[in-house]
Amino acid sequence: MNKIKIGIIGAGRIGRVHANALTNSIPQAEVVAISDTFVQSAEKAAADFGIPEFFADYHEILNDPTIDAVLVCSPTNTHAQITIEAANAGKHIFCEKPVDLTIERILEAKTAAEKAGVKLQIGFNRRFDHNFNRIHRLAKDGKLGDLQILRITSRDPEPPSAEYAKNSGGMFLDMTIHDFDMAYFLADSEVEEVFAATAVTVDPAIGAAGDIDTAVVTLRFKNGAIGVIDNCRKAAYGYDQRVEYFGTKGAAIAENDRETNVTVADADAVRSDKPLYFFLERYMQSFREELCQFIDAILNDKPVPVNIEDGLRPIRIALAAKKSALENRPVRLSEIN
Ligand SMILES: NC(=O)c1ccc[n+]([C@@H]2O[C@H](COP(=O)([O-])OP(=O)(O)OC[C@H]3O[C@@H](n4cnc5c(N)ncnc54)[C@H](O)[C@@H]3O)[C@@H](O)[C@H]2O)c1
Repeated sequence: MNKIKIGIIGAGRIGRVHANALTNSIPQAEVVAISDTFVQSAEKAAADFGIPEFFADYHEILNDPTIDAVLVCSPTNTHAQITIEAANAGKHIFCEKPVDLTIERILEAKTAAEKAGVKLQIGFNRRFDHNFNRIHRLAKDGKLGDLQILRITSRDPEPPSAEYAKNSGGMFLDMTIHDFDMAYFLADSEVEEVFAATAVTVDPAIGAAGDIDTAVVTLRFKNGAIGVIDNCRKAAYGYDQRVEYFGTKGAAIAENDRETNVTVADADAVRSDKPLYFFLERYMQSFREELCQFIDAILNDKPVPVNIEDGLRPIRIALAAKKSALENRPVRLSEIN
């Protein structure tokens, strides 16, 4: 096998991002079909990216014996079911985050993939981001010493609708989940305890829907370090994605990426560009890189870089954070089964 035949399930925002990367810049992949229950979306993506077939029903993709791998890019509440069916059909699977909002269903997906002997990679793309990856390598190479404090700032430029918030599993499972994964990835240590302070400062409708839009979460890592994540669903100046790794030998700081690094100084102020607008602009390179490594894992029979355990861990931290906020106390991960 020197080219992987792929079917994409879900032709919304992230399905299109992956279709674009695969068809334009990953020659080892061939996207042969795309499906979406809203078939016009699949048809449009097929036309836009030169994909030969489109369907309303993803089973058409699973039933095609020539397809080697699928990308699960449909809404979160469909991921576990489609992943299990895809594994049973013998397809390698790239599943968008989160695999599910419950530990039970994620374990079912894990079992199905293991039983079928297929690769299962989870879409925690930020691990592949050029800035965060550099910090990860510095830490791995011992250049920063032992981790003392990890700071992650993650603020969106605009909030989702209250309707979306209601169905997303809540901010911790939908948004902070990336930061929980990043915390583990950079600290290279399990989280043992979580304390979450939460608020609704952006949109009262999000609060009325039972969710939060603002939070500070502190993490205690097994290696003795402390982490702090600050989140907000809206920052007036745009998408704010920064990390600081503070260790015994030094610190590494990732600032926001901007469209240009030009600074304009005049009599009134010194100004630079705002951060890149949102995840579609900011993380494009990482979306491509995670797929390159997925294809490489299949072609060369290597372990996937982000496996189902990596998919499970941030869910457990998110559930602990939810419990912490609800009960206003630190929650140990051992309390989450
Ligand atoms: N890794 C990331 O940074 C990232 C970014 C965005 C979204 N996501 C994840 O990707 C998933 C999709 O998010 P999105 O923003 O693209 O949503 P979206 O609503 O834009 O797209 C989802 C698409 O799936 C289609 N769909 C629904 N049920 C389907 C089914 N059974 N089969 C096929 N298609 C189906 C919908 O019609 C829609 O077109 C979510 O789980 C989300 O958490 C991850």
